[in-house]
Amino acid sequence: MTEKKRKPSAMKILVIHGPNLNLLGEREIDIYGRITIKEINSTLQRVAKAHAAELKIVQSNHEGDIVDLIGKAKKSFQGILINPAAYTHTSVAIRDALSAATIPAVEAHISNIYKREEFRQHSLTAAACVGQVAGFGMDSYVLGLQGLIHSIATRKRAGEKEN
Ligand code: DQA
Repeated sequence: MTEKKRKPSAMKILVIHGPNLNLLGEREIDIYGRITIKEINSTLQRVAKAHAAELKIVQSNHEGDIVDLIGKAKKSFQGILINPAAYTHTSVAIRDALSAATIPAVEAHISNIYKREEFRQHSLTAAACVGQVAGFGMDSYVLGLQGLIHSIATRKRAGEKEN
C-alpha cells in the first residue's frame, strides 16, 4: 500500500502595523509617499502567496493591543513582521514582548529613520528582532517579509537536523 505524503502546512506570519500607519497615503506624503496601507497589504499578500505563506495583517494605534498580539503570536504564527511606527522609539513594552515571543520578528520602516530627526534614529525594538529594513518605502515591508520567511525556513531546517 502506498503511503500518502502529508502536505506541509503553510507558514503563518503575523504582520503588525503600528500607530498612524492607517493614515498612509494622506499623511506626510513627502516622507511616506502616496502608498496606502491597503496597497501595502495586498502586495504583501501576493508575496506571501508566492512563498506559500499565510498572513494575518493588523493595524493598531494602541501599545497594549500590540503587546497582547505579540504575546499570543507564538500559538498561531511562526514569525512577525512589524512596523512599530512611533513606538519604535519609545516602547520598552513592545521590545520586551518581542524578546519574549520566541518566534523571529523583522522590523520594517518606510522611511530611513537614521536620516531623520535625532529622536527617530534609535530603535528600542530592533534589538529584539532578527533584522531591520528601513528606507525603501513599501519595499521595506516586502524585503522584510522575504527576510523573515528565509529566517523561519532556515530555523526549521536547523531544528529538523537536531531532531
Ligand atoms: C516609521 C518611522 C517612525 O519614526 C514613524 O513614527 C512612523 C513611521 C516608518 O515606517 O518610516 O510612524 O515607522
